[in-house]
Amino acid sequence: MRVLVGGGTGFVGGALTQLLRSRGHEVTHVSRRPGPDRISWDEVARSGLPLCDAVVNLAGENVLNPFRRWDDAFRRVVVASRVETTKTLAKAIAEAKRPPRAWVLVTGVGYYRPSPTAEYTEESPGGDFDFFSRLVSTWEAAAKIPGDSTRQAVVRSGVVLGKGGGAVAQMLWPFRLALGGPMGSGFQPFPWIHIRDVAGIVCHALEMEGVCGVLNGVSPASPGTSNAEFAWELGSALGRPAVLPLPGWMVRGIFGAERAVMLLEGQRVVPKRTLESGYCFVYPNLSSALRDVVS
Ligand SMILES: NC(=O)c1ccc[n+]([C@@H]2O[C@H](COP(=O)([O-])OP(=O)(O)OC[C@H]3O[C@@H](n4cnc5c(N)ncnc54)[C@H](OP(=O)(O)O)[C@@H]3O)[C@@H](O)[C@H]2O)c1
Repeated sequence: MRVLVGGGTGFVGGALTQLLRSRGHEVTHVSRRPGPDRISWDEVARSGLPLCDAVVNLAGENVLNPFRRWDDAFRRVVVASRVETTKTLAKAIAEAKRPPRAWVLVTGVGYYRPSPTAEYTEESPGGDFDFFSRLVSTWEAAAKIPGDSTRQAVVRSGVVLGKGGGAVAQMLWPFRLALGGPMGSGFQPFPWIHIRDVAGIVCHALEMEGVCGVLNGVSPASPGTSNAEFAWELGSALGRPAVLPLPGWMVRGIFGAERAVMLLEGQRVVPKRTLESGYCFVYPNLSSALRDVVS
């Protein structure tokens, strides 16, 4: 299969590209930067979709960049980098003479309202209560294309745990120095997935003819994982104590109140349709996932 991946040069994109190539697929990235096996967003907007069998979009400015102030200008970049890239690909797919067979978008579990108790499946309501939930709604709406010549799927991902990037990369040094611990109360749910599985679910959605619609991209153990348990397991994978809590006011100070919600509150998300679609998780439990990440 020839797969076109928007934002495929990033953290999740690297894992997906590796997995797709190992399964014999050809991968081309749509990127802001030139390079081998890459085309630009302008090229797609100007000349349409290159010949391909499937399209994925992973493009998006890093929301939790602690060095970027959470102001209106940054909010606009966060939205545009997701919604405009998705619109560009959706338009190109809709106008393609030979449309691809599958189109997969990766969004986030921020669609669901944070709650210490509620459990959310793919059918649960959401998408209309704060900045991030509305962003996911607009992003997913931008992906919709008319007709049924292209199968469409959306993977709503939890926090991606992997080597060399994402949340763990930011936490590693304090935890290695035994300065790590839960954030805020630590009771908040921690929706997580190993990077091999988020790549695996996207690949499954591309390859399996019957898979379409929303798939929650979280591990089956995720609904039972709290932030404190995550901190404890990360400390234990590193052989360090993880007992120093990071107070909520400090998290709000670093990220701003709106972004801090992503860390200080969380959702219990169940990968119901993902499992029903036949996806088998490689890392269903947290301790093995974290042992792999820090190895
Ligand atoms: N990592 C997680 O924990 C997580 C959790 C839930 C959802 N997600 C979603 O999954 C997708 C992939 O995540 P990731 O962690 O792999 O992201 P990432 O590495 O931070 O970025 C992915 C790619 O997006 C492109 N990009 C970045 N800023 C952009 C901008 N301002 N305009 C256009 N393109 C831009 C870059 O590609 P080029 O430099 O090649 O243009 C980058 O390599 C994102 O949409 C993210 O929101 C991630």
